[in-house]
Amino acid sequence: MKKRLIVGITGATGAVYGIALLKALKGIPGWESHLVLTDAGVLNVWHELKLKRKDVERLATVAYHPKDIAATIASGSYVTEGMVIAPCSMKTLAAVAHAHADLVSRAADVVLKERRRLVLMPRETPLNLAHLRNMVAVTEMGGIIFPPVPAFYAAPKSLDDLVAHSVARVLDLFGVHTAKLKRWQGLKGTPAERD
Ligand SMILES: Cc1cc2nc3c(=O)[nH]c(=O)nc-3n(C[C@H](O)[C@H](O)[C@H](O)COP(=O)(O)O)c2cc1C
Repeated sequence: MKKRLIVGITGATGAVYGIALLKALKGIPGWESHLVLTDAGVLNVWHELKLKRKDVERLATVAYHPKDIAATIASGSYVTEGMVIAPCSMKTLAAVAHAHADLVSRAADVVLKERRRLVLMPRETPLNLAHLRNMVAVTEMGGIIFPPVPAFYAAPKSLDDLVAHSVARVLDLFGVHTAKLKRWQGLKGTPAERD
């Protein structure tokens, strides 16, 4: 059986992260993507990438309508490796933190209760106390907060490079180590040269 990764794309800016994750999963043997794209996610996918719901859903192995609370991923008996929400709005973060359950947050709730891996890529700035507290709550429940903050040490040359780096680091968290990821190799030269 192939390994299933649930991908949530919500209405925060940065739809490109979810799209890049779906595209990456297409190229990884033995893995399937199971997508939930929220209605607000559709707005941002259109605004930022000029893609329609069906264009995004075509990138996934299986796509679920966000209102289909009877979807397989709403049950712990449906085996997955876990879930990534990329990007994750503050609304969905709050829903996950408080076990409020529309399909995207129910799928995350299931991943937490089954002690599977949950990675959220929350996108908002600046952050208010509710956002911060919700991140703490998800962390306390075993989820991983992975804000899409660029890693400049990897010397990105384009936005695609920035996005690909974060997506590869997220996949690392599921034991999928892509050869494309530029990993830190230490600084060249000696400390004396930099003083
Ligand atoms: C263009 C646009 C950009 C947005 N960016 C963000 C954002 O970066 N972070 C966030 O938390 N909400 C953002 N929102 C608001 C969410 O889309 C809104 O809270 C929505 O209800 C989230 O629903 P969902 O979590 O079900 O997708 C944005 C909305 C629009 C229209």
